Amino acid sequence: MRQGLIYENAFEYVYTLLFDIFVCSLKSTFYLLETIFLTLLPDKLRRKKDVSGQIVLITGGGGGVGRHIALNFARLNAKIIIWDVNREAINATCDALKTEGFECASYIVDISDREKVYEAAKRVKEEIGKVDILVNNAGIVTCRPLFEIPDKAIEATYGVNILSHYWTVKAFLPDMIANKRGHIVTVSSVTGLMGTYACTDYSATKFATVGFHESLYSELKYHGHDYIGMTLVCPYYINTQLFSGVKPRLFPMLEPKYVADKLVESTLKNEVNCTLPNSVRMLLPLKCLLPAKTCWELMVRIMKGPQSMSLYKGRGKAKSG
Ligand SMILES: NC(=O)c1ccc[n+]([C@@H]2O[C@H](COP(=O)([O-])OP(=O)(O)OC[C@H]3O[C@@H](n4cnc5c(N)ncnc54)[C@H](O)[C@@H]3O)[C@@H](O)[C@H]2O)c1
Repeated sequence: MRQGLIYENAFEYVYTLLFDIFVCSLKSTFYLLETIFLTLLPDKLRRKKDVSGQIVLITGGGGGVGRHIALNFARLNAKIIIWDVNREAINATCDALKTEGFECASYIVDISDREKVYEAAKRVKEEIGKVDILVNNAGIVTCRPLFEIPDKAIEATYGVNILSHYWTVKAFLPDMIANKRGHIVTVSSVTGLMGTYACTDYSATKFATVGFHESLYSELKYHGHDYIGMTLVCPYYINTQLFSGVKPRLFPMLEPKYVADKLVESTLKNEVNCTLPNSVRMLLPLKCLLPAKTCWELMVRIMKGPQSMSLYKGRGKAKSG
């Protein structure tokens, strides 16, 4: 750990502060111009990460988005490992991969169980190899107002949606650092950027994933591990079983394939943030700028957020995807 902020005298304090402001301004201007340039540059000309031969592990790989993420990485010749609790869902993803001629290693792992994660990670390293790209994608939701959520369900949501990120990252990040290459993809949600009706558990865990991503990003940068990529993906509602029944008023639900396409593209481009659709990103600053009561009016009158969430049906008899 480097030394903190210790100065000999007031002059040194002012001098270093002015110097840092100067360097920061120069670099910020460069990054701004770089962003404008990359935004305008046609996609075909963008430099993208080559993932062929790399090992990609996807949690919740049996689910709606997870299956498409697996297919997309497989099409780029990456080696795919699926972790999920649902055997049928795993089989469906492996079948989809096999149909296209790809192999798929799969493990039944409850990612909310720390010991199971460490045990499975050990097996993966022995049987397949060291993971290069970790996609923390699995998630669950109860979609009920606070007093209707059983305590156990709240704990389960925290276990799957956020605590599991600690266990998987602790299991695989040290190898990435040793190999000087790797990428951690965190699947969060727009509900991780703004609180959502009937999501006190889900939304809070998704906010936590944003904090996890940003804090880990700062740790990796500060300690010089710039070669580890980190991508945070915050999608709006997706047309999978997770939020089945919910009918958003303004924007249509996203398709899982679209979300997976964008997630993989962002990973290849080494982007740090990926909000889907991108237009939602433009609306987010309003949350800080407008009075809270105005935000509520927008939410309940224009977006009909709570009303659309009350149509939630849940997974019902659906098995996967
Ligand atoms: N569906 C949406 O509207 C939406 C919106 C924003 C973000 N997201 C996020 O996208 C991700 C993927 O969601 P999806 O829509 O594909 O959901 P999904 O329900 O189709 O897939 C989730 C998968 O995670 C697996 N899973 C659940 N608990 C697990 C556990 N304990 N251990 C291992 N695997 C477990 C499930 O079996 C399932 O296959 C989630 O993190 C979700 O929170 C979804």
